[in-house]
Amino acid sequence: MATSDLALLLTPEGWALLSSLPPYDPQQSLALSRSLREEGHAPALVSAALTQQRLRSRATAKFGPFAQTMLFTPDGLEQATRLTVAAHHAARYAAAESARVADLGCGIGGDAIALAGLELPVLAVDRDETTAALATVNLMPFPHATVRCADALEVDLAAEGVDAVFADPARRADGRRLTSPGQWSPPLEEVLALRGRVDALGVKIAPGTDHAELPPDAHVQWVSVDRDVVEAAVWCGPLAPEGPGRSALVLHDDGSGGTTSHLLSDPDGTDPSLPPAQLDPVVSLEDLGPLIHEPDGAVIRAGLVALAAERLGARPVGPRIAYLTGSTPAGPGLSPFLRSWHLREVLPLRLKALRSRVRAHGIGSLEIHRRGVEVSPEALRASLRLRGNASETWLVTRVGSSARGVVLVVEPTSAGHPVRPVPADDTPL
Ligand SMILES: C[S@@+](CC[C@H](N)C(=O)[O-])C[C@H]1O[C@@H](n2cnc3c(N)ncnc32)[C@H](O)[C@@H]1O
Repeated sequence: MATSDLALLLTPEGWALLSSLPPYDPQQSLALSRSLREEGHAPALVSAALTQQRLRSRATAKFGPFAQTMLFTPDGLEQATRLTVAAHHAARYAAAESARVADLGCGIGGDAIALAGLELPVLAVDRDETTAALATVNLMPFPHATVRCADALEVDLAAEGVDAVFADPARRADGRRLTSPGQWSPPLEEVLALRGRVDALGVKIAPGTDHAELPPDAHVQWVSVDRDVVEAAVWCGPLAPEGPGRSALVLHDDGSGGTTSHLLSDPDGTDPSLPPAQLDPVVSLEDLGPLIHEPDGAVIRAGLVALAAERLGARPVGPRIAYLTGSTPAGPGLSPFLRSWHLREVLPLRLKALRSRVRAHGIGSLEIHRRGVEVSPEALRASLRLRGNASETWLVTRVGSSARGVVLVVEPTSAGHPVRPVPADDTPL
């Protein structure tokens, strides 16, 4: 959003117009725009207000009903921490009894709102002028939150009375994802160096960050929401009461507007900079057990697959493939961290054989997941000529040391969390 658009919305007329808009409906957008202009509102204001109406509608997924009183830019919304996750961040600062938290690189205020919502005094800093202005509006309900437009690394923390820092470096530039932590803004190394100034430091990082880049004496937690891995965060000093190590926090929508949370931790507090433990995979198809388990992405990223496998008495179906096989169902302690299936059949990964399966069983609906093979589920589905009333779930993968792909035909067990299916990726163990 241009600063001039924001200025229009922050006039009494602009704010009144924005507050009067109905919920976003793409079918009505053009007609609404026309009628607002006919009522005499300036086209630039109408356009700015309707953009906010659309962004607020998208933002509901992250901010629930609060989105309706907030302001966003597309980038700010994209990068913002969703409230359910930000609440977990904020709870660490509250438990550490932080006196004043600096949110360095606050964006539109996702994390700062959660901190301020717990009554913590917050200094929210962003170097982008428009973004800082949006954060100011979004933090308006919290008198103990201050927003400053400044460079994160130039804030005099001691002079500000700050004893705890949260930082969420920008990991995108010019629409591109920056994979190297040295390119983030501010760079990860410089943010971690703030430990020389405050003990209580938390840093949100990309889930795929190389474990070797992470401080060995910190606790690193990977977080998934409804099976999407959304982030990892490094927690230092009093913000990590669990001590050094790694954990997976798995959040699920409970279906009634709330969230359930489950935590899997490495009890030995393994050094997060060490590579994850290796597992003995099965050797051949004969070794496959009656159950296949797929660990949640947060468990995989945290390097806790070996821990889950050990507790289940299960083994990977192939080297570096995150499907586990065994005969023990996941109990309530493990089921939130896995999706589990009964293995019904094993098919060769050959188009002709798969097409005849689809024909013979009248399969009209097919859920395909894959790990360890270069197959596009969409392309495979499209080439199968699905027709019929039956539905099946296929796991396309490799078993044992064979380089050949196979299709594991599976059925969900009652264990595991009932969530929307998400195609698996190739993340290795
Ligand atoms: C990933 S976003 C933060 C999102 C925020 N946690 C939220 O939930 O809304 C990163 C922000 O850092 C800001 N930023 C990048 N480099 C900065 C720097 N050196 N000083 C201050 N802010 C910076 C960007 O303008 C961007 O708004």
